[in-house]
Amino acid sequence: MSAVNLRRKTKSRVPVHLRVGLPALLGSIVGIMLISTIGCGPDPLTGQQMQGLTLYQGRCAHCHEENDLALKKIPPDLHAVFKDSTLPSGAAATDVEVRRVVLAGKGLMPAFNGRFTDEQMNALLAYLHTGPR
Ligand code: HEC
Repeated sequence: MSAVNLRRKTKSRVPVHLRVGLPALLGSIVGIMLISTIGCGPDPLTGQQMQGLTLYQGRCAHCHEENDLALKKIPPDLHAVFKDSTLPSGAAATDVEVRRVVLAGKGLMPAFNGRFTDEQMNALLAYLHTGPR
């Protein structure tokens, strides 16, 4: 008996309902796992955090994620900005200090004084507290 024949015979022994049912069953399991993973994900952003996200993406991310100006001092990653107790400079990681740095600027980072309303600054801070998502 040749190897080809053997393979054909083995394959034909698998009942038809299993050949169709198994992939379908596996498909459903994967689907359920995907849905539950999404379901267990982080809470959706609030409206205020969403506003902060838009500001972060428009005003901060191009430097802090892409360093698009190729600054010699690489802008620090802001994902852990409120997770550590101190900022990269060593200053306390508080709302007051981050607000101050953003408004006053620091080193190669420009001052944003007058470019954010209080409401926008609060939204930006609320977003940064999410560890930016
Ligand atoms: C032009 C590029 C640029 C932009 C735009 C920018 N930053 Fe920065 N940022 C920097 C650089 C460079 C540093 C490092 C400054 C230093 O330590 O000399 C920095 C540092 C920081 C720090 C850490 C300060 C510390 O004390 O360690 C925070 C927080 C920060 N930026 C927040 C922001 C936020 C929020 C925005 C958006 C509103 C923003 N930055 C926009 C370049 C930028």
